[in-house]
Amino acid sequence: MTTSPSLTQDELKALVGQAALRYIVPGEIVGVGTGSTVNKFIDALATVKDQVRGAVSSSVASTERLRAIGIPVFDANEVEQLGVYIDGADEIDGQGHMVKGGGAALTREKIVAALARQFVCIADASKLVDTLGRYPLPVEVIPMASAHIVRRFAALGGTAALRLQAGQPLVTDNGQHILDVTGLSITDPLALESEINQWPGVVTVGIFARQKASVCLLGTAQGVRILTY
Ligand code: A5P
Repeated sequence: MTTSPSLTQDELKALVGQAALRYIVPGEIVGVGTGSTVNKFIDALATVKDQVRGAVSSSVASTERLRAIGIPVFDANEVEQLGVYIDGADEIDGQGHMVKGGGAALTREKIVAALARQFVCIADASKLVDTLGRYPLPVEVIPMASAHIVRRFAALGGTAALRLQAGQPLVTDNGQHILDVTGLSITDPLALESEINQWPGVVTVGIFARQKASVCLLGTAQGVRILTY
């Protein structure tokens, strides 16, 4: 497909949201992520909603959108396996490793991704990077562990800041807080994900290396590039 170089980021998101429809398995339950790119996917899903049995969603926000277009949303505990999970990313590298959590939904995103045989990442071209770490790394933490975790990131050369919303600590769908960490160059995503996962008080780190993308639909001025990993 050839597109105009003048497409906006929003239009690129719509392009990949639409392209993701071809990964839906008719009659099955689809895993649905969170964010502005996924919102475009949900818009596209509305046009074929009779083809899916329902969805498992990674956030309250996506659940509300899915229900608003008439798609039944199942609890993750009701589903043993999903054919596909479709979600965006804040960054994706050449191996399909991602940084996610800009929308604060990283924990549920990892849970739903773990149920799926295939992770299809939808992203505009600005998300493709050589090395993860330019985008602040989101980490969901139990509030009483925040200061300790901030110090552990400082020891790695990172600066962790509590995410605020309207001047108050942002509270996730799971009732926890988010730290955003700058100054990390994530050259070994698998190792860093494993290390941070061990720290007491970390609920989820936004490195998706163990559950990396199997496919990325990348929205570019030339159309949708399909990257497989
Ligand atoms: C939500 O918590 C994130 O993981 C999103 O997948 C990520 O922030 C991408 O969001 P956009 O599609 O809005 O860029």
